[in-house]
Amino acid sequence: MKNFLSVNEVGDLSALVAKALAYKADPFKDSKLGEHKRLGMLFLNPSMRTRISTQIAAKNLGMDAIVFNVGQDGWTLEFEDEAIMSGTTVEHVKEAAPVLGKYFDILGVRTFPSLKNKEDDYSELYINQFIKYAGVPVLSLESATLHPLQSLTDLITITETFKEKRKPKIVLTWAPHVKALPQCVANSFSQWITAWGQADFVITHPEDYELDSKFTKGATITHNQDEALKEADFVYIKNWSTYKDYGKIYCNDPEWMLTNKKLALANKAKIMHCLPVRRNVELSDEILDGPNSIVTQQAGNRVWAAQAVLAELLKIKRQ
Ligand code: CP
Repeated sequence: MKNFLSVNEVGDLSALVAKALAYKADPFKDSKLGEHKRLGMLFLNPSMRTRISTQIAAKNLGMDAIVFNVGQDGWTLEFEDEAIMSGTTVEHVKEAAPVLGKYFDILGVRTFPSLKNKEDDYSELYINQFIKYAGVPVLSLESATLHPLQSLTDLITITETFKEKRKPKIVLTWAPHVKALPQCVANSFSQWITAWGQADFVITHPEDYELDSKFTKGATITHNQDEALKEADFVYIKNWSTYKDYGKIYCNDPEWMLTNKKLALANKAKIMHCLPVRRNVELSDEILDGPNSIVTQQAGNRVWAAQAVLAELLKIKRQ
């Protein structure tokens, strides 16, 4: 693993999940692996779980982690090559990234999409510019289109929860929201579950909310949420904005919010969400506070996902 941006960098997915679960069982078993190594964590957007869990993971491996909130603490960065920097941007990533590469052994970066220009967002310009210029392994802390640490966490949570000798039925359902949100979590979850290949995977959403098909190949896609929920073992709830007519909210039907009545169709399904979640908009109180919700277990597993990935990236020799 040279960088960690998506499932495509993972050779053996089940082995990475097993490695994460081994860290959960024994957090300090590799406490010298990252000794005298530093992790830089750059946030161009807010975060609670990613930021704290990755810091804990680094500490468990004996690494130092330094967090830098680019938007609040740093100079405004320019990412476009050949930009004429006469506007608001102060420093080009061509200077910033190699400087950070001198300070850190691994560089974590969180960006978000603009949701205005699909081509720009889906080219992953920001994180790719860090990869191009930093000279050290880059760890995605969520990019414009994917959230791989979240998806690895989701797979860890499903693996440790589902003990039956058959494939689980996993349903990703769109839910309403007040804001236009990125497709990152839904894209990434679809990419990881289809790559895993050990589930009956169904995606349900209203018309016009189709995700990029390159992430959903192998999934069953339906606009009928009730049908999708039947016999589900896991229901992953997430809002996303439209992909085709990019970054819009079309339907925002509150009927798509999951309730106990809807959940009765499923097979005592466990409820998953990446958090943060808007209560009683995206997901009802009764579901979040109910016995089937595993959202806290899921967020707790962020530590072990980050620790497994950092351990893999630490194997790379500094250039
Ligand atoms: N799920 C997730 O990435 O949470 P944060 O935005 O709080 O990091």
